[in-house]
Amino acid sequence: MRRSRIALAAGFCLSFFLGTLLNLLCVPGFDHLHQQHRFRDGATPAPQWPATGSPADLLRQLRARYQEVIRYREHRAALPVSGRLRKPLERRLMDLAQRSASSHEQHRVTKSGSEPAAPEPTFLSPQGAGLLDLSLRAPSLGCRDIANRSDVRYLGSGYTKAVYKLVLNRSLSVALKSVDFGGHDIQNCVQQYRDLQDCYRLASYKIVKEMILLQRLQHPNILQLYGYCYQDSNDISNTLTTITELGSPLEMIQLLQSSWEDRFRICLSLVRLLHYLAHSPLGSLTLLDFRPRQFVIVDGELKVTDLDDASMEGTPCSSNADCFMEFPARNFTLQCSVEGKCQNMNEKRNLYNAYRFFFTYLLPHSAPLSLKPLLDSIVNATGELRWGIDETVAQFEKVLYMYRNGLYLSNMTHTPKAEYKQVVDVSIAEEDYRCWPSYHHNGCLLSVYNINEAIDICESHSQCQAFVWTNETTWTGRQLVFFKAGSINFVPDHGKITYLKSTG
Ligand SMILES: Nc1ncnc2c1ncn2[C@@H]1O[C@H](COP(=O)(O)OP(=O)(O)O)[C@@H](O)[C@H]1O
Ligand SMILES: [Mg+2]
Repeated sequence: MRRSRIALAAGFCLSFFLGTLLNLLCVPGFDHLHQQHRFRDGATPAPQWPATGSPADLLRQLRARYQEVIRYREHRAALPVSGRLRKPLERRLMDLAQRSASSHEQHRVTKSGSEPAAPEPTFLSPQGAGLLDLSLRAPSLGCRDIANRSDVRYLGSGYTKAVYKLVLNRSLSVALKSVDFGGHDIQNCVQQYRDLQDCYRLASYKIVKEMILLQRLQHPNILQLYGYCYQDSNDISNTLTTITELGSPLEMIQLLQSSWEDRFRICLSLVRLLHYLAHSPLGSLTLLDFRPRQFVIVDGELKVTDLDDASMEGTPCSSNADCFMEFPARNFTLQCSVEGKCQNMNEKRNLYNAYRFFFTYLLPHSAPLSLKPLLDSIVNATGELRWGIDETVAQFEKVLYMYRNGLYLSNMTHTPKAEYKQVVDVSIAEEDYRCWPSYHHNGCLLSVYNINEAIDICESHSQCQAFVWTNETTWTGRQLVFFKAGSINFVPDHGKITYLKSTG
């Protein structure tokens, strides 16, 4: 079992390494402002063959995506009385929809000559298309904050969007998200339909949807939306950029090397997020594209950034067979309810993805020994979808409680072999040794619940001759302790306590 886990983790590391390498080889240029020019100048080769998709097909997609945006914008399932969305905003959106519908129809008919008049309002007109007033809570950021900035730094990109970092007023770091003109989404669309303007609009609706969700869903593990900007570019009017909280892209290999406490934090934030999504103001939401790269880390917490593939739609069914969920290693058949909906499908899909991408790799290994049975039961139950998200989050909170309060230590019989002499207001310079998993690259810095646990650790390391109580704490409130291989280099250090091992 242990061997297969190690093999699994090694395989995972290798696939991540290859994935990262491929990403690096395929990233677009670093200069956001040059993206469109690269495209136009032919740096991204224009297709040599004729368009294979019809304008009517593209129009259908645009209309469907516009309607999806409106659905997410207006859905009011369990909105609190205070309502996060303001009335004037809705009116403005509807006005815009109607106005652009009529101008779009003219535009379409003259373009293709034979298109039937579309009955639904669309947002396709280049004039004012897609403008959306989200009435963000003040102070929100806008075009004035990001205009004419040359110091944007490329951070990452996915299928549709490219993300850049910008530091505002030398203090606030933000992420700017916009449609990636060199990305697969736009490229595939242009190759098929030869219409950059409409392909851009189609892709930008994904950002609009994401922006609506970022605004309607408020949770510590959902990235915060600071603002947005519509600006004209040479080729396209009203290009949309969102301004959000900045994170660091999730590096699974790095996470695998971090302490259990930090890995547990990632899993706990994910479970809290999934609990919120299962009971969100829009109903139960699922993340259809659930891969680690859709999340970022902010101050050690996991936050979801990519929401354009989130879905609140339930799956209709007439029998259990319709409620089939297929994953690479396992399939599930859920119950079809009397109302004709697959029961808890959104929640269960999220949960199984959390299990296969996060829990199996991050939760059990190098966990405190007495927490292992509980953690194994979490991994097994989520891997078999025996628990819903409510039970899962309750079990995670129980683990946190036990860890934070040192309850996992209760069975330990503490009989130190050595004595430890306390020296106040000093620490030890250098004389480090490495241990795993340390919070420090070159030294052995670990978190402990109390002095007894620190002594136990020191006695279990053959190199340990002393340890320094730093008075710094981790996110759970546990003390950070530096374990040392010697005690010659004493230095005055206010607030620190050094414990010297004396074997005599
Ligand atoms: N706020 C952010 N801070 C830092 N990096 C981010 C942020 N948002 C996204 N990223 C990085 O940019 C990549 C692309 O963003 P994403 O929204 O996932 O685009 P796409 O929809 O094209 O997949 C992500 O995989 C992530 O690594
Ligand atoms: Mg993504």
